[in-house]
Amino acid sequence: MDEESSLTDAVRSALHERHQQAGNLAAQLERAAAGRGRRRPLTVNTLAPVPLSDEEVPLVTVSEPSTSLDDLVLTAHTFAAVREILNEQRHRSRLAAYGLRPRSKLLLAGPSGTGKTRTAEALAYSLGIPLVRVRLSAVISSYLGQTARHLERILEYSQTGNWVVSFDEIDMFAGEREDADHGEMRRVSTVLLQQLEEYNSDNLVIATTNHGLSLDSAMWRRFDEVLVYRHPTQSQIFNLLEIKLRRFRHRINREQASRALVGMSHAEIEAVCLDAMRKSVLDGAKAISTADIVDSAVARKRRYKEAGKSQG
Ligand SMILES: Nc1ncnc2c1ncn2[C@@H]1O[C@H](COP(=O)(O)OP(=O)(O)OP(=O)(O)O)[C@@H](O)[C@H]1O
Ligand SMILES: [Mg+2]
Repeated sequence: MDEESSLTDAVRSALHERHQQAGNLAAQLERAAAGRGRRRPLTVNTLAPVPLSDEEVPLVTVSEPSTSLDDLVLTAHTFAAVREILNEQRHRSRLAAYGLRPRSKLLLAGPSGTGKTRTAEALAYSLGIPLVRVRLSAVISSYLGQTARHLERILEYSQTGNWVVSFDEIDMFAGEREDADHGEMRRVSTVLLQQLEEYNSDNLVIATTNHGLSLDSAMWRRFDEVLVYRHPTQSQIFNLLEIKLRRFRHRINREQASRALVGMSHAEIEAVCLDAMRKSVLDGAKAISTADIVDSAVARKRRYKEAGKSQG
């Protein structure tokens, strides 16, 4: 009896295993089928262990963004530069045949919420490669030597794969530093500059800052291109509304709505659109109205002002 039951167990477990294998195979086939429709190749590079700080905290995060350039509203100049850079990256080998390299170190400068991080994501997405975001909070330590070591680890790691590397808020350690208290930061930024200078890879390195103009000239010189970001103009707000509201039925006077939004950043306008969407859902309205947008814009501008954020 015992023998019999252990035999049944064995059969059951063998069947179970077969079943699982079949399930795995089905899942694999499904993934492969889905993969055929993917624009981007799977990137084994994302499997490489990320560099750690001396305290064993990850120095970077790796992601595969899904933001497309079409979702962004940028100035014509910035768009044109972004497209040229994409083109150069896509044709690296053609450039190399003539001893040329693509522009690969970019500084994106402008106020908060105007699409700098989104641009880094869209570039990675368009190139079909992952985005490696440097975690400055983990990189910067109170010891210069340690910070330098962290930066070195990141740059070394970034050379092992093909991806976009982004350093957000680079001004944290690269602003104008006349203040004697900032002597330490000055040395840190010197280290970063040196490492950027020596960074010998065609990988796109994207640094972002909210204080472009206050960065010192030594910083600017290290970049192949500086892209300037601004709050959207009224006609850009027209486009932004189209993009942000496209999932919802809306009947708005764009002239009036965009006038109420002038002075806000893209991110703030997105927040207004989300307010309007939530309201229309909860009110059971057929469409988003001009008043929904204008009311939220007025309320948000007032709140931002109260919170001490300057609005144009
Ligand atoms: N130019 C833009 N076009 C469309 N959407 C935008 C744009 N800029 C910002 N957004 C929206 O606002 C959000 C925040 O944008 P993002 O993180 O790119 O801003 P940022 O410029 O990097 O700001 P910060 O300087 O604070 O890091 C994004 O998720 C995006 O949805
Ligand atoms: Mg950002």
